[in-house]
Amino acid sequence: MPPIAIDRRRFLQSSTLAATGAALARYAPAQGAAAVVDAHIDLSPGESLGTIAPEIYSHFIEQLGGVVYDGVWVGERSKIPNRNGIRLDFLNTMKAVQAPVLRWPGGCFADSYDWRDGIGPAAKRPNRAAFWDQQEPNRYGLHEFMETCRAIGCQPYLAGDLRSLPARDFYQFVEYCNAPSGPLASNSAAPAAPDSLASERAANGSPEPFGVQFWGVGNESWGCGGNQTPEEYAGEFRRYTAWLPTYGTPLKLVAVGPNGDDVDWTRRLFQALAANPEKRRLWGLSVHYYTSGSPSQFAAGDALRFDTGAYYDLLTRGSIMERVITDHFGAIQQYGGQNKVKLVVDEWGAWYGKGTELGPTYNLSQQSTMRDALLSGITLDIFQRHPDKVAMANVAQSINCIHSLMLAQEDRFCVTPTFHVFQMYLPHRGATGVRADFTAQAIDNPMAGAPIPVGGNSYTGSLDAVKTLPGLSGSASTRGKELTLTVVNPHLDRPMTAEVTVRGSGSIAAVKGTVLTSQDVHDHNDFAHPNAVRPAPATTGQPSGSRLVHTFPPASVTTLQLTLA
Ligand code: AHR
Repeated sequence: MPPIAIDRRRFLQSSTLAATGAALARYAPAQGAAAVVDAHIDLSPGESLGTIAPEIYSHFIEQLGGVVYDGVWVGERSKIPNRNGIRLDFLNTMKAVQAPVLRWPGGCFADSYDWRDGIGPAAKRPNRAAFWDQQEPNRYGLHEFMETCRAIGCQPYLAGDLRSLPARDFYQFVEYCNAPSGPLASNSAAPAAPDSLASERAANGSPEPFGVQFWGVGNESWGCGGNQTPEEYAGEFRRYTAWLPTYGTPLKLVAVGPNGDDVDWTRRLFQALAANPEKRRLWGLSVHYYTSGSPSQFAAGDALRFDTGAYYDLLTRGSIMERVITDHFGAIQQYGGQNKVKLVVDEWGAWYGKGTELGPTYNLSQQSTMRDALLSGITLDIFQRHPDKVAMANVAQSINCIHSLMLAQEDRFCVTPTFHVFQMYLPHRGATGVRADFTAQAIDNPMAGAPIPVGGNSYTGSLDAVKTLPGLSGSASTRGKELTLTVVNPHLDRPMTAEVTVRGSGSIAAVKGTVLTSQDVHDHNDFAHPNAVRPAPATTGQPSGSRLVHTFPPASVTTLQLTLA
């Protein structure tokens, strides 16, 4: 059925009436009246897409600008509230979104980082020139990172250095983290030798192994990680992983994947890996996809100043994530039959040009508006629609960098609208993803013909793919009788009234909702106004049998929780 636009007067009338029985006669086709709606959302709780991995809501920090130093690490003697030197606001916010996994130390930083520089007595650790043109004091190292993960209650995900350290260092990195300080082998009663890496770890304060499962085998090896070809990287991957001991912790090894949507990398990598499958151990393929700010009238895109064209263009490019996932997963399946290998989208977000940094030393920090909240919703919904393909995803980066959940500068702190989206999507965590069909007229991208911004990790494919943006999109999951539906309405000035239908599962007994929206899509939080953008309870329509009519405000992210009878 083609969507029928409703004017503002009719919208106000219908949203007022929507909660009453009188409105239902108007909206519910079951009662014989024609539905006056802009969209349909058909939910099929019986059609499972797979379990939504909790790890798709994961995080990433790197020694870059103000991410680690100031954002995460303030030092034990700081007046800023901290736990063993780690900013308390950072820990509490990560707990509030139940962060499952934290990735570190990079990013590009990882491929020039020697993990040994960051262990042992702090006063003895060296200063090093590091990636991102920074001096690295090595005050925040492996043990501090593990303490961060422990305090949050999340799993660590470490990236090994493939560009500047030999394979032996990677083996020893794993050994230092995971080898027990007791006997190494089951047939040996001897404790670890006093000069073993496990003993060194114990001497540095951690007798218990860290038990790190997730390991990135390099980072962006096509770029900052060594400018390699997929074939060259395949050889390196084998060399670094083939005989890696596990020390009792099943290792989940992540290979370096494409630059944005470059499917050729994935095809060639898997072809090369398939050529010699012996001893190949691979759990996930890393994908980095950033949505570059469109130039529009502001050079290189701007986090705060954008016009209508740039707004729709950014969200359209963000929605390309779906194609990135299906294309790369398809390439994995096609070459080498790696049926168990899934995608690890370990860097994603909207990346703008300079102009809104917290200060000169806060490299790549940027403000984050309601537009970024919508991009977050669109992206998480895509992951949730593909639970069979996406095993983990890490927003880049958690604090003070690109698409952050938090901004911090010395004693000042605030959360961004993206933080709220992460909280609103929590009911999907570990639930069963189910089929959700959205029917709504697409929005034409006003900048469809404009040149694609040049930059790493972004979409560089056909212009056809960025012509339109879904007029309403989302995803659904079930946990017992609870059905969660998350929806993004990207229209800047058009509320979208949708008829939500639950297929084949009785009726909707109750509904509650939360909505994140604001007067102006440029709205954002800052240190002076930390609550300018925050969610509110949604006014929902009354369910009628298996149907519900709900109006999604313009430029909004909504969570609806339906209890099925
Ligand atoms: O997240 C910032 C940088 O973007 C990372 O260090 C790198 O992996 C990517 O290019």
